[in-house]
Amino acid sequence: MPIPENTLAAARQRDAEDPLRSFRSEFRIPQHNGKDAVYFTGNSLGLQPKGAEAALKQELEDWARFGVEGHFEAKHPWYSYHEELTDGAAKIVGARNEEVVMMNQLTSNLHFLLVSFYRPKGKRVKILTEQRPFPSDTYALASQIAFWCAVLYRAGILTGGHHRQST
Ligand SMILES: Cc1ncc(COP(=O)(O)O)c(C=O)c1O
Repeated sequence: MPIPENTLAAARQRDAEDPLRSFRSEFRIPQHNGKDAVYFTGNSLGLQPKGAEAALKQELEDWARFGVEGHFEAKHPWYSYHEELTDGAAKIVGARNEEVVMMNQLTSNLHFLLVSFYRPKGKRVKILTEQRPFPSDTYALASQIAFWCAVLYRAGILTGGHHRQST
């Protein structure tokens, strides 16, 4: 792939050709010195979609109107809410529908990920992370390590704080 030309005119040209350019108007952009802020944060918290307020209001209204019956009576029934998100999620990650589910929040999913894929063995026991991760990430990593220490200790693989080589 050729390296794109590094000029303002070329950047503007690429913006004009971007098939997603109309999506910009669907977000609320914080103001900085009276102008739209240049907003690069894509992880953690991106820009607020203009539709978020109405979407949240819908759920609050359905909760007020139906109480627990909102699980089945709400406009987007909560019991099967995840099913409405499957097509889009599968497309985003390039998976089949039966391979994805939208659920939980980040920290819980981090636990599920680690409990499935973190397999400390031999010298490969460390988890590398950035210097000051989000506090809940730190607790998740620490509790997964403690969990595995307990498992390995009970299995007789880890003794007295020293890690015996397992094969
Ligand atoms: C990097 C990171 N970790 C963890 C969290 C906490 O997310 P949650 O409350 O969904 O577990 C956030 C939230 O912004 C985050 O940005």
